[in-house]
Amino acid sequence: MNCNYRTIKIRALRLFVFIFILTLFLNNRLHAQEAKSGKDLYTVCKACHTIGGGKLIGPDLKGVTERRDEAWLIKFIQNSQEMIKAGDTIAVRLFKEYNNIPMPPNNYTDEQVKLVLEYIKNYDPEAEKAAAAAEVPQTVTEPEIPSYELKPAYMKKAEARDYQAIFIISLILLLVAVGDLVLTRLIKAKFVHIIVIFISVFIMGEIIIVEAQGLGRQQYYSPDQPIAFSHKVHVGQNKIDCKYCHTTAEKSMHAGIPSTQLCMNCHNVVKEGKTTGKDEIAKIYKSLETNKPIEWVKVHNLPDHVFFSHAQHVKVGKLDCKECHGPVETMDRIIQVEDLSMGWCINCHRNTEVQFEANKFYKNYTKLHEELNKGKRSRITVDNVGGNECQKCHY
Ligand code: HEC
Ligand code: HEC
Ligand code: HEC
Ligand code: HEC
Ligand code: HEC
Ligand code: HEC
Repeated sequence: MNCNYRTIKIRALRLFVFIFILTLFLNNRLHAQEAKSGKDLYTVCKACHTIGGGKLIGPDLKGVTERRDEAWLIKFIQNSQEMIKAGDTIAVRLFKEYNNIPMPPNNYTDEQVKLVLEYIKNYDPEAEKAAAAAEVPQTVTEPEIPSYELKPAYMKKAEARDYQAIFIISLILLLVAVGDLVLTRLIKAKFVHIIVIFISVFIMGEIIIVEAQGLGRQQYYSPDQPIAFSHKVHVGQNKIDCKYCHTTAEKSMHAGIPSTQLCMNCHNVVKEGKTTGKDEIAKIYKSLETNKPIEWVKVHNLPDHVFFSHAQHVKVGKLDCKECHGPVETMDRIIQVEDLSMGWCINCHRNTEVQFEANKFYKNYTKLHEELNKGKRSRITVDNVGGNECQKCHY
């Protein structure tokens, strides 16, 4: 055996050293990710606070570093409920003023809270806007699958045509049967008429039901949801930003539906609602306990052969959600306000100007830029940049 005890020992030692260095390296990487900036740490606060934008669920934090001292702020941000229980006068007063909505505790270190406070103190809305605008918009196509119960989309148009044909044939049979029964009397046996009438009425009834459901899935579709989640309560009354929950609207094809975990950011403390009490919110906890995602029913459904990207419209096209989804902030239950037809897409593309000059996305369209500069064109609409070419919307 040429592989003696000594060489084995050296190899083991080398392996050990290698693993040790690797762990150090990985550990470093992990910590590098943990060390977030004040801005990142502030993200969770955005749902309930603004800096200079007025009250949301909690107070406006502008100037908070001047009106309270740092030690108080650190304690309050780490665990406000502890201070309230201990009877701190300011904390108790704030809690009452804000309808006894407890602020969730944050397991931030003192240093991390200081970073957040620093961020709040130096917050400059103009600089924030500029930074957001500087991110070069891109077309993103990576599909994100929301945890949805994907109900079959609306009936395919081809199927609808088949249904129409069957409906008309049934109607003719019905008329012929009734006509023969009372007028022509060619067939003597009455049971033949009865059977034909019975079957055709049955088929027509079925088709009417199916069609009605199909129509329901299009414009004005507003299905029951597993939890009575209300946009009116969350957006209208509590002023939560759409993108807080639909996090991928600017980055991806899909706007995305929030996970149960995200609901818990607030509902680990908000346990009761004004209209539904504890019943509906309890379903969030049940989803968490049983580890079963909430099975939201998808409301808007484009057919599979159509490509539609939120990032393209929200980030690049700078459209407001309202333009396509209507006044969501007034809806207790979401309703589809547009018909999502091809005509709807095409019309808007004909009538909507693209922000051509300011948009890096279009720097390659030199011909259009020239025409614009020479005054040959006064505006550039989406269809001018190819937005109405078939393959842009169809796979
Ligand atoms: C779920 C909503 C919610 C979230 C998230 C939240 N807060 Fe609050 N915050 C409140 C409410 C409500 C109050 C008012 C006091 C109370 O009700 O306890 C408050 C009060 C405060 C105050 C005291 C303001 C003053 O005028 O003295 C500070 C500071 C504060 N929050 C900072 C933060 C920071 C920093 C974060 C993020 C790390 C955060 N909050 C996250 C709801 C929230
Ligand atoms: C607190 C989280 C939250 C906020 C904030 C929020 N949404 Fe939603 N949204 C949801 C949830 C959960 C659903 C799925 C249940 C439903 O359809 O009501 C949903 C569904 C939707 C749907 C229907 C999706 C489908 O199935 O076709 C649209 C459209 C929508 N939201 C738009 C908006 C807009 C626009 C805003 C801002 C004005 C907004 N949402 C703010 C949580 C939120
Ligand atoms: C140009 C029109 C348009 C705009 C603007 C728009 N949406 Fe949509 N939205 C749609 C269409 C069309 C669908 C259906 C997509 C499908 O079935 O693939 C949809 C679907 C959704 C869904 C269902 C889940 C998904 O991602 O497919 C949510 C949630 C949603 N939109 C939220 C928003 C929010 C929030 C905004 C604003 C930030 C917004 N939308 C802006 C047209 C639009
Ligand atoms: C940013 C904080 C926040 C988030 C995130 C949030 N909620 Fe709420 N939710 C609230 C507040 C605040 C209330 C209002 C309590 C009240 O005053 O009635 C509320 C109320 C409710 C109610 C009761 C409404 C009523 O009036 O009876 C339900 C149900 C509910 N939320 C479901 C959800 C679900 C499901 C999610 C996740 C998709 C979610 N919430 C995410 C803050 C939030
Ligand atoms: C409310 C107006 C509006 C509606 C409705 C709308 N769009 Fe758009 N769309 C825009 C705008 C604005 C842009 C340009 C964004 C940009 O600058 O690239 C755009 C761009 C696009 C592009 C990229 C075009 C290109 O040249 O790369 C596609 C693809 C697209 N839309 C598909 C759709 C589909 C599919 C629908 C219908 C389901 C739809 N749009 C409905 C306004 C709309
Ligand atoms: C701006 C986006 C857009 C463009 C551009 C576009 N379509 Fe469509 N198209 C759609 C949408 C959305 C639907 C689905 C409408 C529905 O189901 O009612 C659709 C549906 C269709 C259908 C199926 C119709 C049916 O009855 O089921 C055909 C065929 C079609 N398009 C062909 C074309 C051709 C050919 C072009 C090019 C001349 C084109 N489309 C360009 C968005 C677009």
